[in-house]
Amino acid sequence: MAMNYSTLTSAIVIALLAWCSTVNQNAVQALSPSSSFPAQTSQQRFTKSRLFSSTEKAGYEPKWKKKKTLAEEAGSADGLGFEKVGLTGRIPVVFEQGNNTKTSLAFAGQPLRDVASQAGQYIKYQCGKGECGTCECMVNGKWIRPCVATVPALADGEEFKIQLKAISAKSASSGTFFSIRSFIMGFWNNLLGMVGFVKMRRAAQKNWSDRQSYEGRVAQRTREIRAARLAKYANLSP
Ligand code: FES
Repeated sequence: MAMNYSTLTSAIVIALLAWCSTVNQNAVQALSPSSSFPAQTSQQRFTKSRLFSSTEKAGYEPKWKKKKTLAEEAGSADGLGFEKVGLTGRIPVVFEQGNNTKTSLAFAGQPLRDVASQAGQYIKYQCGKGECGTCECMVNGKWIRPCVATVPALADGEEFKIQLKAISAKSASSGTFFSIRSFIMGFWNNLLGMVGFVKMRRAAQKNWSDRQSYEGRVAQRTREIRAARLAKYANLSP
């Protein structure tokens, strides 16, 4: 029976492997730019693939774009002035991040988080409760947490300057979803999954046999004890 199970498992695994490789080959062929053209020489294919890749790069659209704030949509605060772009307040708030500076206006007591959004200044938050320190920025040599901080009351003419941590690196695009690499990695993952499945199946089979034999021994011992007890009572009876 065990032999039958392992033969059946191996047959299923081989069939799945063959199916996965066929699907992968078909998908790669279907997605390959050269598949929509009739027979071509390798030189033609090479030239076409170079054309495709250069066209894709030229027309590349990033998946994520920063949305403009209402003030940015109204125009440049530098050129038009704060009031013309809808920014109001008494205290100039300046966000500095590396060489970039963004300025907005705010009132005393206004949440700094809102002021940063209105200025179009990106700040990375996590807990949003002032606990984790992810959003920490420097103000006059002291760390503050903009997720919970507010704009302080300042004298006329003073500005509230906030220095933000530099962003380490721009995130790169994750690339094309249907890349050949993704198919290869998918196939590899399937293969690992199937190997793991076969290993688990073998371990489970061994556990099952051990348990069966243990339960068999327990049942045998129970029968012996019961038989001994019955024999004892039979001897005692008159
Ligand atoms: S987001 Fe956690 S402290 Fe500000």
